[in-house]
Amino acid sequence: MRAGRRRTASCLRTAVFLFLVTFVWLQLHLTNLGGQSSRQEPAPDNDSSAAILSMVPQVLHKFLTTRPRNITHHGNGSTIGSDVHHLTVDDIRQNIERYNLAQIIHNEDLFGPLQNDSLIIVVQVHTRLVYLRHLIVSLAQAQDIDSTLLVFSHDYYDEDINELVQSIDFAKVMQIFYPYSIQTHKNQFPGESPGDCPRDINYEQAVQRKCNNALHPDLYGHYREAKFTQTKHHWWWKANRVFNQLEVTRNHSGMVLFLEEDHYVAEDFIHILRLMEKTGKASCPACNILSLGTYLKTYNYYGDSKKKEALRAMKRHQALSAAAIPPSWGFQILPSLYQHYQKAEVTPWISSKHNMGMAFNRSVWAELRGCGRYFCTYDDYNWDWSLQHVSQGCLPHKLMAIVMRGPRVFHIGECGVHHKKTNCQSTAAISKVQKVLANAAHHLYPSHLTLTFTSGAKKHKLRKGNGGWGDIRDHELCMNMTQQERTQMLSLM
Ligand SMILES: *[C@@H]1O[C@H](CO)[C@@H](O)[C@H](O)[C@H]1NC(C)=O
Ligand SMILES: *[C@@H]1O[C@H](CO)[C@@H](O)[C@H](O)[C@H]1NC(C)=O
Ligand SMILES: *[C@@H]1O[C@H](CO)[C@@H](O)[C@H](O)[C@H]1NC(C)=O
Ligand SMILES: *[C@@H]1O[C@H](CO)[C@@H](O)[C@H](O)[C@H]1NC(C)=O
Ligand SMILES: *[C@@H]1O[C@H](CO)[C@@H](O)[C@H](O)[C@H]1NC(C)=O
Ligand SMILES: *[C@@H]1O[C@H](CO)[C@@H](O)[C@H](O)[C@H]1NC(C)=O
Ligand SMILES: *[C@@H]1O[C@H](CO)[C@@H](O)[C@H](O)[C@H]1NC(C)=O
Repeated sequence: MRAGRRRTASCLRTAVFLFLVTFVWLQLHLTNLGGQSSRQEPAPDNDSSAAILSMVPQVLHKFLTTRPRNITHHGNGSTIGSDVHHLTVDDIRQNIERYNLAQIIHNEDLFGPLQNDSLIIVVQVHTRLVYLRHLIVSLAQAQDIDSTLLVFSHDYYDEDINELVQSIDFAKVMQIFYPYSIQTHKNQFPGESPGDCPRDINYEQAVQRKCNNALHPDLYGHYREAKFTQTKHHWWWKANRVFNQLEVTRNHSGMVLFLEEDHYVAEDFIHILRLMEKTGKASCPACNILSLGTYLKTYNYYGDSKKKEALRAMKRHQALSAAAIPPSWGFQILPSLYQHYQKAEVTPWISSKHNMGMAFNRSVWAELRGCGRYFCTYDDYNWDWSLQHVSQGCLPHKLMAIVMRGPRVFHIGECGVHHKKTNCQSTAAISKVQKVLANAAHHLYPSHLTLTFTSGAKKHKLRKGNGGWGDIRDHELCMNMTQQERTQMLSLM
């Protein structure tokens, strides 16, 4: 019987998870995630990690380990990509261009072509390889993953990351490369160019100095910082790319799910997405966005959401280098949360709550895209806040979300993209998530959902942006991304 088999499978998976957690703990502690020292894969000293590895199903080994290579020491900050040192920026640009033109889909021969209602999963990837490995391990274990297309969208070209992504054998896989990255634009816009105004110079000084963007500080009076603009650009580019430019999505009318490299999925997330979609069609015609992740009261990644908001503001107002407020795990995660396993909420989409694991289809995208100018000129460097702004101020149909009570997407990355120092202790989040899912195993795969409507709750009014997006070159680049349409595909590879 199907349910019985599933339970046995769950137990097995739980056991596997526990071994994995231990293994991963070892690996992470040997790896020194921090980013301070050069990247090193754990030296296989020794027995315990090898012993633990031997208990992990063979098929998953490859996603958590790298094949040994000789590592060169640079003795300084390059977290990742020591391999890239033999590639020049021109090489990287050429590779990126080739990949983007060729639009290769791996494993299509194994899993068949994309159907118009297949799920497309788009993962935004920067440089955090260790987290990405875990996301992939979680995806590998998801039911029906073989029916999906995984699109990895990169803003950093790295051979190790490519190798990992191309080793995926459980679903169709495609890689797309954000072509305006800082990596490939080191001394020119959208990277930092020589004539740019320093962040903290005041307007009069800037005008006097005639630096590039003197006339366009953000609404807090600061000038552009390249590294803070990349994520929003990348997000917008990738959405345009997937919906409007890839050949494979030409006839696609199904859901597109957005994940990030430091997310982790529950094994029933595809089942849940389908259920949410069906339930929404039947009972909530106004619902147009699905959210699989939520920040739980008991699973409080940023300490609390007020702190999180304060952090965002601080990043801009002070010269704080976006270092993370250490996450806090105030409570044990309550398995009772999943006693509401069949419950979902209907609520206006709020960026800080519903930005993880969100999914929508092409017709919703068409409305968002129609608000491109609104998105691209809003003075906030956060894509999710910009999206909320679009929802509230421009969309013909505001974003109305269906949100699972028991989340199916978790955040395992404890340090942001711009993280510099301190040990991120990423193991804490990973093993917590493992435990939550192990505890919830019997509550996964609900047969139906009940919707609770909470839309009558407090109004979220439009607010001032967080800044960091005052430069008109950013506005223009962002809007340019919406101009491109599908062109004839070239075959260069
Ligand atoms: C690691 O294990 C192998 C075989 O188990 C052994 O030959 C080797 O000496 C060990 N290395 C260290 C550094 O302990
Ligand atoms: C890397 O390893 C290979 C094979 O082990 C060896 O032949 C080569 O000399 C090594 N290269 C460096 C730079 O150490
Ligand atoms: C890090 O090492 C690379 C390669 O040796 C070097 O080019 C770069 O200047 C170093 N960076 C710092 C901050 O020391
Ligand atoms: C999807 O494809 C099927 C057959 O291939 C077709 O009947 C159906 O109309 C298509 N749906 C959409 C929304 O294009
Ligand atoms: C899209 O649909 C058209 C017409 O049905 C078909 O000829 C074409 O091959 C389809 N393209 C893809 C990528 O599925
Ligand atoms: C896409 O989503 C919208 C909003 O939920 C819905 O009205 C529409 O029917 C969906 N389109 C398709 C092709 O399923
Ligand atoms: C945007 O596109 C226009 C027209 O193609 C071009 O002149 C301009 O340089 C582009 N701007 C940016 C920032 O890419």
